[in-house]
This record gives sequence, C-alpha cells and structure tokens, in this order.
Amino acid sequence: MREAMFAAPLGDDVFGDDPVVLQLQAHTAELLGTEAALFVPSGTMANQIALRAHTQPGDEVIIGAGAHVWRYESGALAALAGVQTQVAGTGGMFSAADVRACWRPVDPYSAPTRVVAVENTHNSAGGRVWDPAELRAVAEAAHALGMTTHLDGARLWNAAVASHRTERELATGFDSISVCLSKGLGAPVGSLICGSAAFIAKCHRFRKMYGGGMRQVGFLAAAGLHALDHHRARLAEDHANARGLAEVLASSPKLRIDLSSVQTNIVMIDLVSGSAADLVATAKSRDVLVTASGPQRIRVVTHLDVSRDQVMQAAKTIAELA
Ligand SMILES: Cc1ncc(COP(=O)(O)O)c(C=O)c1O
Repeated sequence: MREAMFAAPLGDDVFGDDPVVLQLQAHTAELLGTEAALFVPSGTMANQIALRAHTQPGDEVIIGAGAHVWRYESGALAALAGVQTQVAGTGGMFSAADVRACWRPVDPYSAPTRVVAVENTHNSAGGRVWDPAELRAVAEAAHALGMTTHLDGARLWNAAVASHRTERELATGFDSISVCLSKGLGAPVGSLICGSAAFIAKCHRFRKMYGGGMRQVGFLAAAGLHALDHHRARLAEDHANARGLAEVLASSPKLRIDLSSVQTNIVMIDLVSGSAADLVATAKSRDVLVTASGPQRIRVVTHLDVSRDQVMQAAKTIAELA
C-alpha cells in the first residue's frame, strides 16, 4: 500500500484533475453499480453530505436504533442538515412494516419523513449483517412512500463477504451509499459517496461547503485503490478470528456474549461485574487494544494487522482480566 501511495501521480482534486482520485471514484461506482462516486475524507462526512443532499432543514430521517449517523457523528444531522431522526424497529435492524409505521403523511404538524437510512453492517449492534431480502424490502417500502434511501455502508465490504453477495447486490435500491476505505480495508483514510450523477453533483457542492475538498490527494486514493483490490476477500479471515475469540470468551462465567450477533469482525462483550473503562486500561497495559462501548461493555474488532494467534492471545488476556 505504501509503495502504491509513493508511486501515485498527483493532480488537484479540487479542480477535479487528480488522476488516481478519478480512477478510485470510477472503480468504486462500478463496484457499487452506481453512475458516480465522490471521494471524501471520512465516513462521517460521507453520511452527513449524503443526508444533507437528500433533505431540507426540518425534515425527518428514519434510522435504526444506535445508528452511527445519530449516535457517533457529534449531532451533525441536527447541527448541519437541521433534520430530526425517528428510530424504526429495535436493535438497529428494522423491517418494511417498521418503515411504513414510521412514515407520516404531509401535514402542518409533522416533519416530512424524507429518507430511510440503513447501516450495513450495523456497528453498535456488533457488526450485524442485514438480511439481503429485508434490505431490499425496506428500500422498496421507502420508495413506495415517496422517500429516498441512504445506505451507511462503512463496512459494506464485510456485509458482502458475510452474506455471500456482491456489494452491488446489497446496494440495489439505495439512492446513495457511503463506503469506507479505512476500517477493515486498512487504508489510512477515505470514504466515498456513491449515487446517480445528479445526486453526486449535488454532494460535490456540499463537500465544498463542509470543507472536504482535498487537493494533491492522489496518494490517499492510491491507498484506497490498493485496499479495494487486495483487502476485500481477506475480510473472511477477520470474521473467522472474531468468531474464534467470541467462542473462547463466551465460556467465561465473567463475560456475556450473544454469539448470534457475532457475524463479522466486531465482538461486543458485556462484563458481569467491574467497569469496561478499567478493563480497557489494564488490557492496554498488556498490549491488547479494545474500546469501551458502554459502562460494562467492551468492543473488540479484528482486522488485517492482527493474526489468528494474536487474536487468541488477546482472548486469553481479556478472560484473565475479567
Ligand atoms: C457504520 C459507520 N458509519 C460511519 C462511520 C464513520 O466513519 P469515520 O470514522 O471515517 O468518520 C463509522 C465509523 O466507525 C461507522 O462505524
């Protein structure tokens, strides 16, 4: 990846003439089956620009419980797009019936329900994967009610591997899709918004407004292209490692793990006693890096920089500390 970055020819992407950025955008659009794509610095910016482009201030966005766009994007939907959210279903996933139940006809008392935003895989639900048929049904229900659809696909690559579908199949029915090159794909930075040419043109203007225009950025796009070409298929290893870790830790009487939720590279672990922050700090002193995802919940993510042996060693350390 570093060699690809060093070798990248550079242009100026604010002028739209960085050759590797153009290549990355075309390649990602092709993978997702959309007309166009736009390179942005982060997944947060990709989601926020897309949802801003779908809405007007005062509109409402339907989301799943714990959605990243609501929980971890610093209030940007309210602050930047001026929209409110309504939660459909429970646990992050929802159905077409839930979409219909959330929708309200236009009246002077209600915020127009304008967009349905789905997260696949769902981060705070432990990397859960949407059932492809449910995904399609939700998008169809949204369109039937005149709404648009956004897919937060920061980890769509993991969803594709886990559900044995192409990214393009999982993106069908969505008017916009955000994908990340960092996270499991291992690029240092970068995300893309994918959609129709007209939608991406609209996003381009908001990218400028949100300060996301980058200039000689082809070296980062080169990292992204390398990640797309070399690191997608291997995500299955991360999934198997997460499963292995979860199965070992599930046998500890001090820990609670819902094994049915371990579907990709994320494992959520609840402590029977003690604080997650303390465990995270002690684990760090033993070279095991995990995060707290609640007062008694820790979140473990497997990725390309940790081998099977290291993951199993980490499992042993976590069990001892618990
Ligand atoms: C589902 C999801 N969407 C969006 C993001 C935001 O990505 P970034 O950290 O690049 O802003 C994340 C980050 O973890 C995520 O998990």
